[in-house]
Amino acid sequence: MVLILFLGYPLHINMVKICCIGAGYVGGPTMAVIALKCPKIEVVVVDIFEPRIIAWNSDQLPIYEPGLDDVVKQCRGKNLFFSKDVEKHVAEADIVFVSVNTPTKTQGLGAGKAADLTYWESAARMIADVSKSDKIVVEKSTVPVKTAEAIEKILTHNSKGINFQILSNPEFLAEGTAIQDLFKPDRVLIGGRETPEGQKAIQALKDVYAHWVPAERIICTNLWSAELSKLAANAFLAQRISSVNAMSALCEATGADVSQVSHAIGKDTRIGPKFLNASVGFGGSCFQKDILNLVYICECNGLTEVANYWKQVVRVNEYQKTRFVNRVVSSMFNTVSGKKIAILGFAFKKDTGDTRETPAIGVCQGLLGDKAILSIYDPQVPQEQIQRDLSMHKSELDKPPHLRPVSPVAIEQVTCVRDAYEATKGAHGICVLTEWDEFKTLDYQKIYNDMQKPAFVFDGRNVMDVDKLRQIGFIVYSIGKPLDAWLKDMPAVA
Ligand code: NAD
Ligand code: UDX
Repeated sequence: MVLILFLGYPLHINMVKICCIGAGYVGGPTMAVIALKCPKIEVVVVDIFEPRIIAWNSDQLPIYEPGLDDVVKQCRGKNLFFSKDVEKHVAEADIVFVSVNTPTKTQGLGAGKAADLTYWESAARMIADVSKSDKIVVEKSTVPVKTAEAIEKILTHNSKGINFQILSNPEFLAEGTAIQDLFKPDRVLIGGRETPEGQKAIQALKDVYAHWVPAERIICTNLWSAELSKLAANAFLAQRISSVNAMSALCEATGADVSQVSHAIGKDTRIGPKFLNASVGFGGSCFQKDILNLVYICECNGLTEVANYWKQVVRVNEYQKTRFVNRVVSSMFNTVSGKKIAILGFAFKKDTGDTRETPAIGVCQGLLGDKAILSIYDPQVPQEQIQRDLSMHKSELDKPPHLRPVSPVAIEQVTCVRDAYEATKGAHGICVLTEWDEFKTLDYQKIYNDMQKPAFVFDGRNVMDVDKLRQIGFIVYSIGKPLDAWLKDMPAVA
């Protein structure tokens, strides 16, 4: 019989109960994989948002993620459960993961930068209220460094003699590849207190991951290193994208090709080839939020130069979106007013329906500002989500859809359509904003025939076959690539 230690006491592995608070993009897939890999552990994912729980228990899961359906189907109803009965399952659990949203604060102290820990704090208070037995509480959400200390205070001041151990176990999965990232993580990071009880808690969580993750990939650190490593990892990743995007502007000005530059520098093993694709800008719920959070922490510690350094990563990302809009408008005789523009792709990357902080929002809003008429097609994003995103104030964009206010203002200049051919019919220009595979294999001759002339393609992801499109007759702009003669003759853009 396999044994693990739970807060110092040996437990039969088939007695371990895990509860995860938050059934979102992280909680759902992460717990599904734990359940699949650990058939003797009971895993319950709970959420206060009932429609999400209903969807997790249905054939139409609340998030689109390749491979997820399969994993959920294999263990749901056996050792994986989704429930709205938050308090009951937290009370029964040995290990409680907290995977609630931690968006950027929109009001009050630190607004626009600091992490909003409202959901985290209410989860921690609820754990303290309902617990009747010792528990390991695991920070799965991305949180500011030192959050564990605050959580410890909440739990111990309300503990009624119960022993809580706090661990930091940040998640590194990326959307669209979440299942393969969870199956084969580059590393699992566990931070805990350096006390004997803390070390025992680390070991208990290590034993869970050891079911499928090789020991050398499980890294154990102190709490603060684990918390900060997550923010640092996202900041470094985003910084690479802003670096290559900054280069893309210089490439356009000089005739260099950003793909060739990325290839050349990525061959240096110290730099490496990944995450060097120039784009219309990074999106997603994490990068911007986590960098702003890092900036805020630096400022709170009096580290102004460090804060300014990281702030620039977000500034370049904004610049890249503005630059793209300016290219579109200036190429089309300096106005898109009344012109139909087809938007291909709205999600922040391919293989997800998530639109949080997608660069498509800024680009579409920029084009709408110049009175364009947009026809949007994305294979995974529904119309109501697109309209809600476009009518929202920027600071609300990293909140989950159901927590966002729906604007009563109808966006009359926007239609969402069911395929790329409908979107492009009669259009003056096409903007490719997400790198969905299906956009590579469209019949562009047919599309060209059905468009206004001159017909433009603005490739915000560098996924189009530029030579082929030019042969057909399109005027093509690709980020960071040598410019068409047409574009060179247009006024310089910011
Ligand atoms: P999400 O918004 O998809 O899911 C969070 C869920 O928590 C929501 O369904 C919400 O209803 C629920 N919730 C909030 N308060 C609750 C409470 N008190 N009790 C029960 N449920 C509650 O968020 P997400 O994308 O899964 O991200 C969760 C955390 O993980 C964030 O801190 C994020 O930064 C981090 N993270 C996200 C990703 C990613 O790719 N999305 C990757 C790594 C880390
Ligand atoms: C990111 C981190 O990768 C992940 O480790 C963390 O847990 C959560 O945040 P995610 O945001 O889901 O994951 O996707 P990611 O693949 O990192 O892409 C983020 C954005 O950067 C997307 O908009 C993507 O299109 C863009 N990107 C990525 C580029 O523009 N160029 C690149 O070379 C790579």
